[in-house]
Amino acid sequence: MRDAGSEGGADAVALRGRRILLVIAGGIAAYKCLDLIRRLRENGAHVRCILTAAGAAFVTPLSVETLAGQAVYTDTLALTGESEIAHIKLGQEADIVVVAPATADIMARMTHGIADDLATSTLIAADKPVLVASAMNTRMWQHPATERNRARLEADGVSFVGPNDGPLAEGESGPGRMAEVPEIVAAIVDVLDAQPGPLAGLRVLVTSGPTYEPIDPVRFLGNRSSGKQGHAIAAACADAGADVVLVSGPTAEAAPAGVETVRVETAAEMLAACEEGLPADIAICAAAVSDWRAAAPQDQKIKKPRRGKGRGDAGLTLELAENPDILATLSTPGPKRPRLVIGFAAETEDVEANAAAKLAAKGCDWILANKVAEGAVFGDDENLVHLLTRGAGDGAPGVEQWLRMSKAEVAARLVQRIADALPSGTETA
Ligand code: C5P
Repeated sequence: MRDAGSEGGADAVALRGRRILLVIAGGIAAYKCLDLIRRLRENGAHVRCILTAAGAAFVTPLSVETLAGQAVYTDTLALTGESEIAHIKLGQEADIVVVAPATADIMARMTHGIADDLATSTLIAADKPVLVASAMNTRMWQHPATERNRARLEADGVSFVGPNDGPLAEGESGPGRMAEVPEIVAAIVDVLDAQPGPLAGLRVLVTSGPTYEPIDPVRFLGNRSSGKQGHAIAAACADAGADVVLVSGPTAEAAPAGVETVRVETAAEMLAACEEGLPADIAICAAAVSDWRAAAPQDQKIKKPRRGKGRGDAGLTLELAENPDILATLSTPGPKRPRLVIGFAAETEDVEANAAAKLAAKGCDWILANKVAEGAVFGDDENLVHLLTRGAGDGAPGVEQWLRMSKAEVAARLVQRIADALPSGTETA
């Protein structure tokens, strides 16, 4: 069964997983930023905020960090050791920087490359698209200095949304009102849409969830895989601009928006759907494929033998046949082999040694190994993984230990590693 992925609206598709750095400067319109943060997060974006000293006169750090769901960056924090490099890190870890409300003052400092606080230092260090939502008194907006600054910033590639015409806080009316939240959200989407994602032009095949192997029409062999990690990876690849086909076993997870999802039940169906999904540049096998299936599934429900006097436990012997190994099949050298094949391994001990053995046995390029001994992974929202990458020739694999993080973060980090390893935009063979 195929579906195109219908969850969420257009904004949710464009914003899901995107990292937005919001610089809140000192204007009365700062209060609208609280709603802006809420809207962006509702649409699946990650929002980090820098609150300028003047901004903190209008909204409190507590309000901002409560809505953003993470600590707010202020100049006070910038004095601490951790954030000495915050102005570099914040820009690097964002997909877009939004300045709202952008006062005449911050526009002037941006125009001249002044870096006298965390906000302006971050803005001058950021190599990401910048969107400015100006808000100020009409006369300030129409002053030749502000007009010059706006033109200069536009020439530097900065985008603007608003300001709108209407009543201002000072009781006057005219251009200067900050754009409304839906307009700012739409402008963010437009700016992001114009940026090619790091996996643009690449086709990715992802397997996810368990497989169900029928014993008879009502019973099956299966496992507890939730599909959360595989679905998060498919969503993250799509967010990064890839063309994604997700082959999913039975799960409660919704089909991610913007992903072609093929629903299957058995390992044989999963393999067939994967082969149909080729050619692909990258294959990521996150499914927990049942190793065995019933050798002869019955067309009718298997009846329990009647118990009667003198009859013992009749029992039932089920003959099993081995299922195809989808990861090993996709890893087989040949013209259809994706350039990068990634498998998963759930290990309870000797994670690195066991995962290294699996890497060699399956013939894939990378293994993401879950350490299942330190807590449940199936169904959990978090994951603790090691990434093993095949070494050159017979060399030992490279090993990275990732900290415990959410499955969405594992997916985002994997996308980043793939983008570093494969140049995007290359034609699929
Ligand atoms: O051998 P094991 O099941 O531990 O290997 C796990 C990896 O192999 C996962 O990436 C899983 O998706 C893949 N696999 C597969 N087909 C199978 C068994 C496992 O693709 N029949």
